[in-house]
Amino acid sequence: MAIGIDFGFSEVKIVQIEKSSGGLALQNFGRKSVIDDLSKFNPESIGKSQWTAAIQELCRDLKINPKRIKNAVSSISGSNISIREVKTLDMAAEELASSLEFEAKKHIPMDGTQPVLDYHTLGSDPKELDKIIVLLVASTKNIIDNHNETMKEAGFKTGIFDADPIALVNAYTNAEGKTPEGADVLLDIGNQTTTLVVWGMNQRFFTRELSIAGHEFTKYTAKANTVQYDEAEKIKIAQGLAAVGEAPSEEGDDGKFRVQVAEKTIYTKLVEEVRKSLRFYMKNSGQSHFNKIYLSGGSAPLPGLQDFISENLNIKVELLNPFKKIENVAEMDNPAQYAIAFGCALRGLEKK
Ligand SMILES: Nc1ncnc2c1ncn2[C@@H]1O[C@H](COP(=O)(O)OP(=O)(O)OP(=O)(O)O)[C@@H](O)[C@H]1O
Ligand SMILES: [Mg+2]
Repeated sequence: MAIGIDFGFSEVKIVQIEKSSGGLALQNFGRKSVIDDLSKFNPESIGKSQWTAAIQELCRDLKINPKRIKNAVSSISGSNISIREVKTLDMAAEELASSLEFEAKKHIPMDGTQPVLDYHTLGSDPKELDKIIVLLVASTKNIIDNHNETMKEAGFKTGIFDADPIALVNAYTNAEGKTPEGADVLLDIGNQTTTLVVWGMNQRFFTRELSIAGHEFTKYTAKANTVQYDEAEKIKIAQGLAAVGEAPSEEGDDGKFRVQVAEKTIYTKLVEEVRKSLRFYMKNSGQSHFNKIYLSGGSAPLPGLQDFISENLNIKVELLNPFKKIENVAEMDNPAQYAIAFGCALRGLEKK
């Protein structure tokens, strides 16, 4: 049994899974808001104490006793971690670790504390057979200590960590299998950030954090409808892109005045950011075709978003269902919101 925890800026998510005769089964899942009062939401005020409190409450709801959990894996989000694909000679684990440390120091987000490394071997290099391709995950002691403290204060004994993009890839691979040809794009659209990953078995790994997600959507909806943030959150979830004039409204014309789209809406800006990232990837990898975009995260089911992205980028877009191959999955609101927590739980099973 293992549990995965995703500390988000708006919600904490937990997924608990176990090995079963048919593969894997879902034992428990849940989410809890870290925001006390949505009308006063300020992302900068979200920190250790909000996360600890939300996790404790969520564990109580789910009847999980953190002290008894051995395999808890939590994720560290994008800007605190650097992930690079590197090629290196195939060598013994210890040797590999020290050679990678040298490489990591070049990319690490430095804060004056020691680098902390982790790596995942992706396989051998199809072009140079004596080399392997490794995903190097680098952070600093300071960041890991902070994360550890949150876990400890919530009552968990140890901490194993994953990075959001890696947890996302693991969740996706479990659901959809390996991408044999070309590359897929994963977009986890949360509250503060959108994590973009380009992933394919024979393609370069690429990840980037975009700073447009649910919070910016709500702010924009508030402005376009001249309402407060908490009211805008409801309008956003009910009407999606139609609430800012970016998609036909199913409810028809309700007679309300809305800012018309002379300016670029937040959704256009998001699409532009994605396009820029994919262009950058194409330039650097020679890859010119993407099979599909898989949306996950709490903002993934936003009405109209899937079609909007698909039409603007001319790529098929689908909602990721991380639990596609899992047994015992109950009806749930938005399975895609659990993608990262599920990816973390998968890692926890491996560690056993
Ligand atoms: N049904 C829905 N339709 C659209 N958006 C939704 C829906 N439900 C939740 N959201 C939005 O999803 C966001 C929360 O998603 P998620 O839990 O993935 O974010 P997070 O992990 O807390 O944030 P981050 O990853 O940025 O730290 C909120 O901004 C919320 O407004
Ligand atoms: Mg998130």
